[in-house]
Parts: sequence; structure tokens; C-alpha cells
Amino acid sequence: MKILVFDDAPAVGLRLGSYLADIVAARAELVLGLPTGRTPLPLYAALRQITTTRGLSWAGVRTFNLDEFVGVAPDAPGSYRAYMQRELFGPVGIPADHVGFLDGTAADLDAECRRYEAAIAAAGGMDVLVLGIGTNGHIGFNEPAPALHARTHRAALQAATRASNAGQFGGDVTCVPAEALSMGMATILEAKEILLMATGAGKAPVVRQLRDGGITTALPASFLQLHGNVSLWLDAAAADV
Ligand code: GLP
Repeated sequence: MKILVFDDAPAVGLRLGSYLADIVAARAELVLGLPTGRTPLPLYAALRQITTTRGLSWAGVRTFNLDEFVGVAPDAPGSYRAYMQRELFGPVGIPADHVGFLDGTAADLDAECRRYEAAIAAAGGMDVLVLGIGTNGHIGFNEPAPALHARTHRAALQAATRASNAGQFGGDVTCVPAEALSMGMATILEAKEILLMATGAGKAPVVRQLRDGGITTALPASFLQLHGNVSLWLDAAAADV
């Protein structure tokens, strides 16, 4: 794994934003996998800014987000779909028909997961996937467990994960759904290039385990060690340097 360390979270966002903007500009067609959470906010701010200053076109970009809450409608304020619309899709002008998203209100959630896998495959797979990481080592909503899921699935959220998502729901952890839909480990590992962001001292222990530990389902992110093209984009606090 390649490790890149920058001074602080805004610097990580700027440098990764610039890296991604160059890819968007260079390729006529690009399939991009995207995360939510607090960590990518500086990245999306940087991409909005670069898009304006460079006049970057997103016309050839199709996106697939990692996950969505079960029972939260796409246009509800707490949804990840609404977050993405606000932070990136709306401001840079990615049309709805280029956006792939899980629908946590689908009548048949298992069928919805299968639809999503098929949509990613039909798009030719993800060229570049940006990831965050939970303090417990989850990626997407692949939580630590005795066994992990290969494909897009329905996931029960652990207490710590619900707590860290409370901000999406007015700070009230009881409003955070107990379940989500998430890309699986194989879905993630099939992306051609993976860029994992981690910032802040709270992520330093999990980054250390990811860097130095073995591969274990107790740390889902450790499976990224099996992928040949992964880079970690860290600030000094998360890198513990
Ligand atoms: C959330 C998301 C993940 C995200 C992680 C870290 O639960 N499902 O995709 O990477 O938790 O969130 P944050 O960046 O806010 O620390």
C-alpha cells in the first residue's frame, strides 16, 4: 500500500481533489465509487472549487456510492443520497442518470442489492473508488464480524457506527437506522484503484492496524492489503507522525 501523508485534513482534501480532478479531466469516461461521512467533506469542497476554477466537466463521469441507510428515502435530509447531492452532485453538475445509488426504501431490499451489483457490472466496474474508514476498521458498512459479505448486502450497524453517524440525524443516535445497504468486500476489491482517506487522531489506531497488522475479518479494511493498487491518504494526526 502506498502511504501519502499531508499536514492536515484540508490538505488531504486538496491533494486528493487535485488528483481526482486530473483523472476526471483526462478520461472521456470514468466510473467513480464514492464515500460519505465527515472525512470526505474537504475532498468534496476541493472538487467543487477545482470544478469552478478549472471549468472541469463531469459529463463523462458515472458514480456509485458505497452505502445507504435502510428506511431512509433518497430525498430525506439524513440520507447519504441527499448528502452527495448537497456536497458534490448538485454543485459540480452530475445528472441523476449518471448517479448510481442504493435505495434503502426499496420494497425488496435483497433485490435492490442484486440490482446494484448488476448496475456496477454493466458500467464496466469502478475505475477509482474513494473510501473512508470507521474507527472499528469498517469500510462502507462492512462491519467487523466472524465472516464478511462478498457482495452488496443488508448490514446491521454496530453501536459505535451508529454513534458516529448521528450527525446525519440532528445529533440524535436513536434516529440513526439500525441497518444499511452496503457494497460488499468483493465489490470494493474489484475497483481498479482504491484511495482510502483517514484524518484526525481518532483514526490513528485503526490506521496503525491497517498498516502493520495481518488480514482479519475483525478489521475489514485489512483486506485492502490483497489489492495491488491502494493508496492511503492521511493527515499527520491519523498517520501518527
Ligand atoms: C460511515 C460510512 C463509511 C465511512 C465511515 C467513516 O459509517 N458508512 O463509508 O467511511 O463511516 O466516517 P467518518 O468519515 O465520518 O469518520
